Order: sequence, then C-alpha cells, then structure tokens
Amino acid sequence: MATIWYFSHEGDALINGSTAKINEGNTKIAADTLAEISGANLGKISPVEMYPFDFDEAVQRAKVERDQNINPTIHPVSANLLNDSVWFLGYPNWLGELPGAVKTFLINHDSDGRIILPFATHEGGGMGNSVNQIKQLCPNADVKIGLPIRGSRVSKSQFAFANWLTQYYVKNN
Ligand SMILES: Cc1cc2nc3c(=O)[nH]c(=O)nc-3n(C[C@H](O)[C@H](O)[C@H](O)COP(=O)(O)O)c2cc1C
Repeated sequence: MATIWYFSHEGDALINGSTAKINEGNTKIAADTLAEISGANLGKISPVEMYPFDFDEAVQRAKVERDQNINPTIHPVSANLLNDSVWFLGYPNWLGELPGAVKTFLINHDSDGRIILPFATHEGGGMGNSVNQIKQLCPNADVKIGLPIRGSRVSKSQFAFANWLTQYYVKNN
C-alpha cells in the first residue's frame, strides 16, 4: 500500500513573481490529484505552529528555520499509514530546500526499506536540493526520481503524475 505524505502552506502563494491569495495550497491540490490517479492514502504533515499566512513572513520564518537548523514540531500522523511500503512525499520548494515540517516528518519516522517518491511544487526552482536532503535523512530508503510541478500549473498536473507513476511506481509494493 502507498500513502501520499504532503505538506502544503496555507497562505499567500508566489505566482510568476508576485504574491497572490489562493484558496488551497498548490501541493494539497497536487496531492489530491495524485490520490485520485493512484488510489493511495493521504497523510497530511502539519506543523503545530502554523506558518504565517503572509508570504514575506513565511519566507522569514523559513529562513530562520533553515539558518538555525530548526525542525518545527508537527502533529502526530496515522501510525497505520506509516507502515505502507511506498511513501509519496509532496511539499513546496522552500528556498531551494525541504520545508522544515517535512524534515521533521522524515527525522521522526522510520523510513528504512520504504520506497519514497518525492514531488515538489515550485515557482521556477524545481526540486532544488530537496531530493538530496531526503536521501541524507533516509539513507535506507529507495528514493526515486522526483517530480517537479509548477505551482501555477498544478491544475494540469494529471498527465505529469500519470507519466511519473508509469515510470517509478509499482502498485502493490
Ligand atoms: C517560504 C517560501 C519559500 C519559497 N521558496 C521558493 C524557492 O526557493 N523556489 C521556488 O521555485 N519557489 C519557492 N516558493 C514558491 C513555492 O514553492 C510555490 O508557490 C509552491 O507551489 C507553494 O506550494 P503550497 O501552496 O502547497 O505551499 C517559496 C514559497 C514560500 C512560501
């Protein structure tokens, strides 16, 4: 069985260089799309202290977490889903890296023997350095090639996901 673990910032988004209000996070939309296509479970990663709604303030906090190596506390996740052998892992590219809440998730949970399929929404930076970070945090997992999705085009991500699944996802792992 497979679970889609995802973190999505509920706040302003950066779209083509300017901030805009959005109703749902891009990564949440991507995770829902992937769930529809793959039939995988959904598991939300959410920090206990929400990130600021305002884009610039969220960037400031992300910088502090990155520079001071802070891994923010997250809410507990379903223990059953952690047993799944395939973990999709979705997150926004933050400063070219994994958001702190996603780092916390990987540090707190045993990923040994899991297949990890990362996907990131972004506004130009692709996966950044995030896949290397996942490999460092999960040395005994099989981390597959990541799928970058432009946040502003997330509503058209079905084909990219389907293509990626065909290449890297074997159901019933
Ligand atoms: C704190 C912060 C840092 C970001 N840093 C980058 C970046 O370095 N490169 C990039 O391409 N996009 C960056 N973005 C844009 C997001 O990756 C993009 O808007 C993403 O789709 C947001 O997903 P979400 O709505 O699920 O949080 C950043 C956004 C935020 C809030």
